[in-house]
Amino acid sequence: MSIPSLEHHTSNWRKYLIAGTVAVLLFIGISIYIFLRRGYFDLYIANKVFAGVAFLLIAIVLLIGPLTRLYQVFDGWMMYRKELGVLAFLLALLHSVISLFLLPDHFPFAYFINNAFTTILGILAVIVLAFLFTISRQKILSRIDHHFWWKMQFWGIRIAGTLIFFHVFLLKWSGWIQWYVKGGSSDLLRPYLPGASLIIAPFGLFVLGVRIVELAMPIKITRIAVPILLGVYILWLGITAMWHIN
Ligand code: HEM
Repeated sequence: MSIPSLEHHTSNWRKYLIAGTVAVLLFIGISIYIFLRRGYFDLYIANKVFAGVAFLLIAIVLLIGPLTRLYQVFDGWMMYRKELGVLAFLLALLHSVISLFLLPDHFPFAYFINNAFTTILGILAVIVLAFLFTISRQKILSRIDHHFWWKMQFWGIRIAGTLIFFHVFLLKWSGWIQWYVKGGSSDLLRPYLPGASLIIAPFGLFVLGVRIVELAMPIKITRIAVPILLGVYILWLGITAMWHIN
C-alpha cells in the first residue's frame, strides 16, 4: 500500500471548484435525463439525482487510484479525491435526510421497515463517509499518525463503496428486471427510456471490474483490460437504450 504525500489532502478553493464543477455537471446531466423520462421534476426526483451524483462521485474516487497507477495521463486527478469524497458525503447525507423525513408519501416509515437491510446498508455507508470526512479535517489530520490515517482512508472508502453498491443493487434490482421484462410504467413520459439508476449503477460494476482486474492481473494486461471493460459498459448501455425501441 503506497502512501501519497499529505499535499494531496490539503484542500484549497481551486480543488473544490473543480470537484464542484464535476458534481454540478453530473447533477445537470442526470436531472435532464430524468426530466426527459418522467416529464416532471420535484423533490422526489431531486433526491434521485443527489443519490446518483453521490454514487458516481464515490465510484470516481475509487477509479482514480487504479487510473493513476496504470496511465500517467491521469496523475493530476489524484489530488481531487478528497474534495470529490467530501461532496459525495454531503450529497449522500442530503439524500438520506430527504428519503427518511421529507418524502413520506413516497417513503412512509413502513417502507424502511420493509427494506430494513438496504436502509441499514445506506445508513452505515453515510456513517463511514462521515467518519472519513471528520478525520480529513485539517485540525485532526495534523494530530493523527499519517500512516494510520491513510490506512483508515484506504479501508473506509472501500467499505463505504461496498455498502453503497449493495444498498443500490438490492434496492433497485427487482425494478430493473421489471423494466427489461415489461417496460416502464405508463405514468412515465418516455417509458422506453431506462431508469437513471440503470445507467449509473453499472458504472459501479465497471469500477469494481477495474479494481478486481488490477488486483488479479499484471499491470500490462490491466492497461488493456480497462478500455475493454469501459467498452463493455458502453455497449451494455447501448443495448439497454435500444431495449424497448422497436
Ligand atoms: C452513501 C450513502 C448513500 C448513497 C450513495 C445512496 C445512493 C442511492 C442511489 C444511487 C439510489 C438509486 C436512486 C434512483 O432510484 O435513481 C438510492 C436509492 C435510495 N436510497 Fe440511497 N444512498 C445512500 C444512503 C441512503 C440512506 C442512508 C437512506 C435512508 C435511510 C437511503 C434511502 C434510499 C431510498 C429510499 C432509495 C429509493 C429511491 C427511489 O426509488 O426513488 N439511501 N440510493
